[in-house]
Amino acid sequence: MTTDVSQRFLARDNVYLPHIAVIEKIIDETPGVVTLHFNFKDEKLREEFTFKPGQFGEYSVFGIGEATFCISSSPTRRDHLEFAVQRVGKVTNALHRLDVGSEMGFRGPYGNGFPLDSFAGKNLVFVAGGIGLAPLRSLIWNVIDDRDKYEKIDIVYGARSPADLCFKYDLDAWGNDSSINMVTTVDKGDASWTGREGFVPQVLEQAAPSARNAVAIVCGPPIMIRFTFPVLEKLGFTPEQMFTTLEKRMKCGIGKCGRCNIGNLYVCRDGPVFSFAQIKGFISSEY
Ligand SMILES: Cc1cc2nc3c(=O)[nH]c(=O)nc-3n(C[C@H](O)[C@H](O)[C@H](O)COP(=O)(O)OP(=O)(O)OC[C@H]3O[C@@H](n4cnc5c(N)ncnc54)[C@H](O)[C@@H]3O)c2cc1C
Ligand code: FES
Repeated sequence: MTTDVSQRFLARDNVYLPHIAVIEKIIDETPGVVTLHFNFKDEKLREEFTFKPGQFGEYSVFGIGEATFCISSSPTRRDHLEFAVQRVGKVTNALHRLDVGSEMGFRGPYGNGFPLDSFAGKNLVFVAGGIGLAPLRSLIWNVIDDRDKYEKIDIVYGARSPADLCFKYDLDAWGNDSSINMVTTVDKGDASWTGREGFVPQVLEQAAPSARNAVAIVCGPPIMIRFTFPVLEKLGFTPEQMFTTLEKRMKCGIGKCGRCNIGNLYVCRDGPVFSFAQIKGFISSEY
């Protein structure tokens, strides 16, 4: 019997056959992003399904197609699952049109997830931009629910404008948690914004979290990632202490179609979570 989480929930006869899931709640995050809460129709699967923060699924709207999204909820809070969708094209528009009670397909969980065991006993620095907070919030809530295992937590999160900040309810909760150093920033504020302004890499440099006994986990738009790694290096983080989760266009999600390679790695099978040491050779051409 395999113990690999990514293999346990595959349909037996056809790995491309999705499980049927029902939308239970829809949250408007920003003008272009919604979070969908869902659960499986199959009761046994609903009870047994587990995953690791950073893993993803292939979600389908019947008659339209399939697309890749991380699971944005934490495995430590399993009465339902969540994913956040930015509207960019065919499938994401169709997902935005679903209502509470609509059915969709789900295959997964796929990918490696974050190496949570290796983070134990460390200071954790989370750096995210825009909807890039989605995979990190799964990890952050997992860490909060296991708080004794980890040391200091720093979170630097930014978006283009106040309206583009996702998961505002989480930002409030983390901001009110005295064990977390939370910094929220926007590129450009509006009349009502009293918080910090500035790009995420600059704000990270000002916050200057120590690299000692720390790991940094970064996710956001490619431009943010490209400018964040040099800042972390300046702060003393080694490539082995920095992690990110990559978004490469996918089809099968399980290492079969060859669609998602960067260098000799398949993002779906070997990632999507990588240390900077693993990807720094080709990140500048990809990002
Ligand atoms: C591991 C992983 C996790 C992801 N997690 C999330 C998530 O949590 N939330 C979220 O909103 N999105 C996420 N994405 C991106 C998401 O998969 C795409 O936005 C989605 O597939 C677009 O589908 P579509 O049919 O609406 O777009 P299409 O109609 O196929 O394309 C619309 C436009 O988007 C571009 N595009 C499509 N997919 C990608 C991609 N992967 N990278 C760059 N450009 C792309 C196309 O080139 C085109 O310009 C993730 C991607 C990966 C690989
Ligand atoms: S999506 Fe098919 S190999 Fe990665």
